[in-house]
Amino acid sequence: MTTGKQVFSTISTNGQLELSIVDIETPTPGADDVVVRIEAAPINPSDMGPLFGPASMDQASMDQASMDGTGDGAKLVAPVPENRMGMVAARLGQTLPVGNECAGTVVATGDSPAAQALDGKLVSIMPGAAYAQFACVPAATCLVHNDTTSPQRAASSFVNPLTALCFLETMRMENHKAIVHTAAASNLGQMLVRLCQVEDVPLVNIVRTQEQADILTGLGAKYVCNSSDNDFMGKLTEILVETGATLGFDAIGGGKMGSDILTAMERAASRNASGLNTYGSSQLKQVYLYGSLDFSPTTLNRAYGMAWSIGGWLMPMLLARIGGERTGELRQRVADEINTIFASDYTAELSLQEMISPEAIARYLPKKTGEKYLVAPQKGL
Ligand SMILES: NC(=O)c1ccc[n+]([C@@H]2O[C@H](COP(=O)([O-])OP(=O)(O)OC[C@H]3O[C@@H](n4cnc5c(N)ncnc54)[C@H](OP(=O)(O)O)[C@@H]3O)[C@@H](O)[C@H]2O)c1
Repeated sequence: MTTGKQVFSTISTNGQLELSIVDIETPTPGADDVVVRIEAAPINPSDMGPLFGPASMDQASMDQASMDGTGDGAKLVAPVPENRMGMVAARLGQTLPVGNECAGTVVATGDSPAAQALDGKLVSIMPGAAYAQFACVPAATCLVHNDTTSPQRAASSFVNPLTALCFLETMRMENHKAIVHTAAASNLGQMLVRLCQVEDVPLVNIVRTQEQADILTGLGAKYVCNSSDNDFMGKLTEILVETGATLGFDAIGGGKMGSDILTAMERAASRNASGLNTYGSSQLKQVYLYGSLDFSPTTLNRAYGMAWSIGGWLMPMLLARIGGERTGELRQRVADEINTIFASDYTAELSLQEMISPEAIARYLPKKTGEKYLVAPQKGL
């Protein structure tokens, strides 16, 4: 029986967030399972909710956060504001595993031929408990990598690469011909720029600083709009006229960006309309809110006629829609192009202990452009 360390997140009924590292016995693999020794796991925005819950870890909380104990037994303890406790009623007192995705080496297998075929291979997995030294998962869920790929590169194989691919699947299924993307200098956004170049799909990138615009232009992006510019709406509208983009993916979620995109789409779609159309253009304008970088309410000004739609969008739901066979093709494409289109680079590697320290949290929580952190569960323990 192998024992490994694993990070857990707990919010107690008395309003304390606790991140702890616990020794866990790795299950003996069933016939169709494999045990993966986890080498690298990214910290993505979607990992932060389960990690911190409504503690939000703003400056006030961080000032009060502290490490309780020393060495392997050290825990991060931080207060959860009283007015947010109602948001987490469903998880109070539960010790939750954290970390969506990771990569590592198969070190033990079940008896089935499919499981044994993975022995010693570098695989990416989505165990939902990626901030750990070992995971036992079904062999069928493993994405096997080529010999030239490193665990660091393989670590981010699902969340962002499959999302970029699924944006294009959505575009084609819903009969659009170009895409608008916000927070476009993100890790995902940079992958999308490379993917759309290869696929010859017009991509309209919306960023909020000139530095971000420069990053994307440096990658060869043709259309980049800075929402901080005075003429943002005018420039966006001109690009939408040129590209015909009627589909937007908004990672910001809160505020008025989704609405602004629809407004610009409507202006572009009705540019050459003759006469008065009370209900606006008949062209469907679709924006999906797929992230919550801004937690404030979403504001809609409804200045875009009646042919528009805003909805939520989640990559696993899109995968369910396209089915297992197509999903398998997309996964294999990620493995084949993980060092090019879908490559992620990292600011630093953190041990399990480092990742739960207030100093490290202060670095990775802001989700700044170009700053992505990798957890290395075998480091320093
Ligand atoms: N729905 C799904 O299935 C799905 C799947 C994968 C990813 N996602 C979402 O995709 C987004 C990007 O993920 P990632 O891993 O690529 O992120 P990342 O590399 O950490 O980058 C985050 C980016 O967002 C920008 N940003 C942060 N707050 C912002 C705000 N309020 N307004 C505008 N820009 C803001 C940052 O720019 P600054 O430097 O200016 O702060 C940075 O460029 C996240 O929201 C994530 O949750 C969703």
